[in-house]
Parts: sequence; structure tokens; C-alpha cells
Amino acid sequence: MNDRSRRRIAGAGLLAPLLLGCAARTDLHLGEPTPEQASLEWERVRPLRPWASLEGMREGRSRYVERCGSCHSLPDPSSRTVERWTLEVERMAPKAHLDSLQGSKITDWLASRALAADGH
Ligand code: HEC
Repeated sequence: MNDRSRRRIAGAGLLAPLLLGCAARTDLHLGEPTPEQASLEWERVRPLRPWASLEGMREGRSRYVERCGSCHSLPDPSSRTVERWTLEVERMAPKAHLDSLQGSKITDWLASRALAADGH
């Protein structure tokens, strides 16, 4: 085996987990919701987090997708309870260079997924 083919094999090895990571993300439904879906998500969260706003949740979703998957794959938003997300985001926000308000908006959005998963 010459040097060039060895490099090509190493390259494919690096690429595979990246591709798998992207494939996993699409079934988490992390894309921008329609305005109707966004309102439903907001209404679900309001009783528990009355400060949540539509705009804040919009920001929270996009920051989650942009910032929380840089060190590890993005966790499934429906995989944890609201209480657990609150703690995890407080712990992780400084790692992602986010302040507590930015973190709280991420939790507002994650809460809508956590509550939907609980059947609320
Ligand atoms: C700078 C790198 C970095 C960034 C950015 C980051 N994380 Fe993490 N995260 C880690 C490391 C390292 C661990 C494993 C060690 C730990 O749990 O503290 C981890 C673990 C986790 C866990 C698993 C905890 C468990 O054991 O169940 C969750 C959930 C999580 N991160 C969520 C987030 C969220 C949400 C964000 C965005 C606000 C985020 N992470 C951004 C580095 C990062």
C-alpha cells in the first residue's frame, strides 16, 4: 500500500462518524418549525415557564442546534425532563459561551419537546 491510498483510507474513517452524526440529527426534527407549530410549542411551555416568548424559543432552538453539538452530538431534546434540561443547560451554557439568559431560552425551547414527550 502506498502513502496516498493509506491517507485516503484514513480520510474515509474520519468522515463516516460525521455522516452518521448528520443522519441522526434529521430524525430529531430540529428544523425551524412552522408558525403554527411554534405557537403550539409556546403554549405547551407557558404554564411552566411563563416568561417564555415565541421569539426567545426561536432563538433558543437555533442556538441549541448551532452551539450544543460542537463538542458532542446533539442530545435528543425529548430525552430528558424539563428539570433535567434546566440543570444540564446551566452546566453546559458556559462551555458554549452562552450567558444565563441565552441558556434559559434554550431551556424554554427544550422544555416544549420534553413536555411533548411526557404526553403533556
Ligand atoms: C466546549 C464543549 C461543549 C459544549 C459547547 C457543550 N457541551 Fe455538553 N458536554 C461536554 C462534555 C465534555 C460532556 C461530558 C462531561 C460532562 O457531562 O460534564 C458533555 C455532556 C453533556 C450532556 C450529557 C450529560 C449526561 O451525562 O447525561 C448533555 C445533556 C449536554 N452535554 C448538553 C449540552 C448542551 C444543551 C449544550 C449547549 C448549551 C452543550 N452540551 C454544549 C462538552 C460540551
